[in-house]
Amino acid sequence: MPRILVTGGAGYIGSHTVHQLRTQGFDTIVVDDLSKGHAASVPAEALHVGSIFDRSQLIEILCGERIDAVVHFAAFIAVGESTREPQRYFHNNVSGSLALLSAMSEAGVNKLVFSSTAAVYGNIDVSPIPEDTRYDPANPYGETKVMVERVLHWLDQCAGLRSVRLRYFNACGANPDAGLGERHDPETHLIPLLFRAILTGKPITLFGDDYPTPDGTCIRDYIHVDDLANAHIAALKHLLEGGSSDVFNVGTGEGLSVKEVLAAVERVTGRKVPHVIGPRREGDPARLVADSTKLRRALGWQPVRSTLDDIIRDAWTFETRA
Ligand code: UFG
Repeated sequence: MPRILVTGGAGYIGSHTVHQLRTQGFDTIVVDDLSKGHAASVPAEALHVGSIFDRSQLIEILCGERIDAVVHFAAFIAVGESTREPQRYFHNNVSGSLALLSAMSEAGVNKLVFSSTAAVYGNIDVSPIPEDTRYDPANPYGETKVMVERVLHWLDQCAGLRSVRLRYFNACGANPDAGLGERHDPETHLIPLLFRAILTGKPITLFGDDYPTPDGTCIRDYIHVDDLANAHIAALKHLLEGGSSDVFNVGTGEGLSVKEVLAAVERVTGRKVPHVIGPRREGDPARLVADSTKLRRALGWQPVRSTLDDIIRDAWTFETRA
């Protein structure tokens, strides 16, 4: 079986992807500095604690483990934090990716699946959003992903690096059977914060109800993390079979409002969510929904666990595990 290096494999999406890879028989090695990820989220024998900036360790792993392809998650992901600490984001996300790419080039590994984001599109007025929509990031986080996407484009053209860039919409859900779920610190994402409001009784603030949407709250495309993980596997297979570089949105194509998610959480958990309406959060686009036709057609991927009730049921089971 092919041998895959996963950077940031102890994080939320990374750990679910590592689990799926191993379940499907791929040999998988993780490099994670554990600044955000959790060692317990990956099998101990697969984990190398280290940084993507450590070129010699990376080259040693890429060569020593005879790695065929890399899945690159390691990055900072908080939009709000990126506006407060842009330099740290550009350094970690852009320079870190360049360090990894340099080690890959040195080791002769030329296949990469890159973790990108819907944030590369920014506040655009298109829905659903196809991949050929122009870049217009609304924050430094999105810009870091645009920059790496551009680097990958040119390394494909000039240096023979084949890459698939996956632009995630709203990752959510969990794999409670595998003991995996969302554990960000601080948590900024809607579904875990709705659970927290139930469990603590402290109301969650809904950021704005005056958007130009049917119920006034923002619309997002929520994709189960296991469906997202499977998109990485489809992308890897494509590259390992000699496929060319490409870019794909990963979402369901269905938009759901914040109030609809709240109502579904109440329905699935049988508990009321204490909440208040607050002002808009800076930088939040009104509507972000993926056109994921390309991924379905080109790689045969389709979401199988991304109904809102399945997402919430899995996430709630993980949240309330013993
Ligand atoms: N929201 C609230 N209250 C909260 C938290 C979130 O009302 O306490 C709302 C947000 O305003 C937004 C929706 O819930 O309308 C979803 O918010 P999340 O923070 O869960 O997710 P985002 O859509 O802001 O961010 C996601 C990814 C980012 C990515 C972005 C692309 O988490 O990494 O999509 O725009 F950059």
